[in-house]
Amino acid sequence: MAKKRLAVFISGNGTNLNVILERKTELQSLLVICNNPRAYGIERAKEHGVPFWVLEKPIPWDSLHERLEKENLDGIFLAGFMKVIPAEFVKKWQGKMFNLHPSLLPHYKGLNSIERAFEDGADIGVSIHYVTAEVDAGEVLLQDIAVPSHQIPTMSLEEATTKTHECEHRLVGKWMDQWL
Ligand code: GRF
Repeated sequence: MAKKRLAVFISGNGTNLNVILERKTELQSLLVICNNPRAYGIERAKEHGVPFWVLEKPIPWDSLHERLEKENLDGIFLAGFMKVIPAEFVKKWQGKMFNLHPSLLPHYKGLNSIERAFEDGADIGVSIHYVTAEVDAGEVLLQDIAVPSHQIPTMSLEEATTKTHECEHRLVGKWMDQWL
């Protein structure tokens, strides 16, 4: 089966991008899109010799869509992309766009989801879902518990956050296994 073409959107450190970078030979092409010129994820792309685009501010969504169309992408993966994507752009990529979110959706949508679940003593986990116009609301494809609620009293928020990020990295690998 033909290898696939993937673009990964990031805003920061890129530890989840790194999971994909380390498996880049399983893809026909990989492109990193970043809205933050200082994001360490850009260094990670450079180290792997993977092309990257740094987005202007404000993000020119229309021209970005046109440029991305030329890449003949099979998918777009949002890995810690911290900007809300306009519904119009999402609609053009619906069914091909995936997002990683550090909670057991539909619970704890939005920001600071690990912290909020931790403070509530609720199960902390990770989800990968289709991106739709409504934030963190698309069909969930993969989900894993990182920290069951009963373990929360035994650990700090930092430890729970570390376990959640480790869980994210595993889930991104699982997503690749089934998407490729
Ligand atoms: C991840 O926790 C992701 O779920 C959240 O932002 C973080 C990105 O981490 N949206 P990294 O840049 O992949 O290390």
